[in-house]
Amino acid sequence: MLTTYAVILLVLFLLQVAVAVYAFLQIRDTDHLRAEFKTGLDKLFSAYRTDSVSRETVDVIQRSYQCCGVNSSNEMFFTNNNTYAQSCCPADITGACTTPFTVGCFEAFYEFVVSAIKIIGIVAISISAIEIFGAIAALCLSSSIKNQYRRGAYA
Ligand SMILES: *[C@@H]1O[C@H](CO)[C@@H](O)[C@H](O)[C@H]1NC(C)=O
Ligand SMILES: *[C@@H]1O[C@H](CO)[C@@H](O)[C@H](O)[C@H]1NC(C)=O
Repeated sequence: MLTTYAVILLVLFLLQVAVAVYAFLQIRDTDHLRAEFKTGLDKLFSAYRTDSVSRETVDVIQRSYQCCGVNSSNEMFFTNNNTYAQSCCPADITGACTTPFTVGCFEAFYEFVVSAIKIIGIVAISISAIEIFGAIAALCLSSSIKNQYRRGAYA
């Protein structure tokens, strides 16, 4: 029973190490991650004026991260009425958006994604450490029970 438990913990442990290693490799390979991420955001933001799902997604990103455009707010400027996308301004302003957030969403959102990946890696490693401890405890317990049984038999 306890040995089975230890084996299950070991498998979970290996899975988590894999997740942690993956997370850290992603972070180390930042050029690749940055490029992929940039491409994704460019695609999303360039569909702002044509696709309503993209528009809503961009609005949520801009509001949440207080950023405007991928690189800069220039991208979100409407020349027909000289205003910026409404989500480039704080939600509580009244009237049109004329002084947008100055941070580009790539910088703002990328920082967030990298720290999220780091947190996932750290959590995976912490859980792994707890599991190693659990597995060792289970093995010790199981061998001490066996010893006690053996001693009992010879008493
Ligand atoms: C953002 O800037 C980079 C380099 O400065 C450029 O290649 C890219 O096209 C820009 N993206 C947008 C959406 O303007
Ligand atoms: C300005 O024009 C854009 C594009 O037509 C539109 O989406 C936006 O709602 C307009 N803003 C205001 C304040 O009328």
